[in-house]
Amino acid sequence: MRDPRNILITGASSGLGEALARAYARPGVFLALVGRTAERLERVAEACRAQGATVAATVLDVALAPELEGWLLDIDRSHALDLVIANAGVSGGTGRGEESPEQVDNIIAVNVHGVVNTVTPLLPALTARRRGQIALMSSLASFRGFPGAPTYCATKAWVRVWGEGLRVELARQGIEVSVICPGFVDTRMTQVNQFPMPSLMTAERAARIIVRGLARNRGRIAFPWPMYALSWLLAAQPAPLSDLMLRLTPPKS
Ligand SMILES: NC(=O)c1ccc[n+]([C@@H]2O[C@H](COP(=O)([O-])OP(=O)(O)OC[C@H]3O[C@@H](n4cnc5c(N)ncnc54)[C@H](OP(=O)(O)O)[C@@H]3O)[C@@H](O)[C@H]2O)c1
Repeated sequence: MRDPRNILITGASSGLGEALARAYARPGVFLALVGRTAERLERVAEACRAQGATVAATVLDVALAPELEGWLLDIDRSHALDLVIANAGVSGGTGRGEESPEQVDNIIAVNVHGVVNTVTPLLPALTARRRGQIALMSSLASFRGFPGAPTYCATKAWVRVWGEGLRVELARQGIEVSVICPGFVDTRMTQVNQFPMPSLMTAERAARIIVRGLARNRGRIAFPWPMYALSWLLAAQPAPLSDLMLRLTPPKS
């Protein structure tokens, strides 16, 4: 969608969500922003208002479906949404140990259920209007399970594959769906990593690439291309070879 006017962004209080909010903020644009940390979210909302946007910011946990649904439907009634960006996500690592059941549950609750909780309540309204765009935040980590973060990779694979299916399904009803697969982006999520992150880019640069890709209704917005090519090649190898290559990767803290 070239010129979205009413935009929802989850996980807007930092990193990619914040950069996307700032990239879209201008007069005539309404932003509905969701995050968990009030102070950070309000700082982003203020910055977007200073750029001329109208902003409704609320602290909500995307894993809590009923609360989120009520708010989404209210927002959509007052400002018919034309772009929904399900971006909120959490990461976790094994440090080569095990992921606890609680850690696994939490990552799935936010990265999988949080995305479903964001998108599905809005589908009836979007399809009734036969207009709108849905953007789902996956990752280049969705193409192959990495030993340091198996649950994170699995949730991002789920998001990508779900989005690819929805794209074809919803195109018949006039809705655009894009899956976003960034490589390493400098955010609070990656700032804890203690290993080299090739082609690390700023959140602002990533947001510019995403905004351009969404304007062109690209099904998969994967970047930067050298890392995309590497991820794709790694996933295409026979399992014994890719296992061998991945044994050399450092653990995620
Ligand atoms: N950074 C990368 O290299 C990279 C690469 C590929 C994909 N991604 C994906 O990009 C998305 C954004 O991550 P980021 O890198 O920008 O990290 P970030 O700076 O940590 O931002 C994560 C955002 O999600 C919000 N959030 C987390 N759990 C939430 C919940 N239960 N309910 C509502 N909001 C929640 C956070 O809110 P609070 O901070 O207020 O708690 C924050 O606004 C994630 O889906 C991540 O998997 C990141």
